[in-house]
Amino acid sequence: MDQNELKALVGQAAVKYIEDGMIVGLGTGSTVRYLVDALGERVKNEGLNIIGVTTSNRTTEQATSLGITIKDLDEVDHVDLTIDGADEVDPNFFGIKGGGGALLWEKIVNNASTKNMWIVDESKLVDQLGDFGLPVEVIPFGASHVFSALEAKGYQPEWRMDGDQKYRTDEGNLIIDLRFGKIADLEQLANELIQMVGVVEHGLFLHRVDTVIVGRQDGPEVLG
Ligand code: 5RP
Repeated sequence: MDQNELKALVGQAAVKYIEDGMIVGLGTGSTVRYLVDALGERVKNEGLNIIGVTTSNRTTEQATSLGITIKDLDEVDHVDLTIDGADEVDPNFFGIKGGGGALLWEKIVNNASTKNMWIVDESKLVDQLGDFGLPVEVIPFGASHVFSALEAKGYQPEWRMDGDQKYRTDEGNLIIDLRFGKIADLEQLANELIQMVGVVEHGLFLHRVDTVIVGRQDGPEVLG
């Protein structure tokens, strides 16, 4: 199986965890697209009655086009289960997210959710986080000063681009990708970044996930 087939495998495995009546957080990315396709099939064929809360406008568009009912996070009082992708996952189920630029809404929905599951192909599993790079979402006002501060710390920042323009998140913010390789102290870095004025959020997701479904050549493996 190639990487896309492994992503489809975990998307289809994860949809089985969604039960009638649930409020479900729907993540963002190419793996989650397979989950949302599979969820659309269940809604259509089984009459599954769920409410989805999405983490990006892209996922909202896909889900609504498939007949899945979507509400804003503020229209629901809880989320039962959120299923999302990830860019790297370590043995503690700590991860890096934001490759698709949706890390802020993803972390907010994750935070509101009783249970959180990630779906990843096996290439996402790592011993130590960092080689992927670390996305940091910043407010546009004065963003070059945040960039310079990150540069001065030796974090090798790069603007996330969309063609010749700086990439804009659904919230209208910018993303700076840090490229300094493996991260020695995750908690320390997470605290340091979130305390920087102008930083809205970063892509380190620590202590946030209960279950990871890994797409392996011999089938989906459920961890946790
Ligand atoms: C978006 C994300 C995605 O979940 C992450 O980038 C994984 O994406 P994909 O399933 O396409 O590999 O964090 O912000």
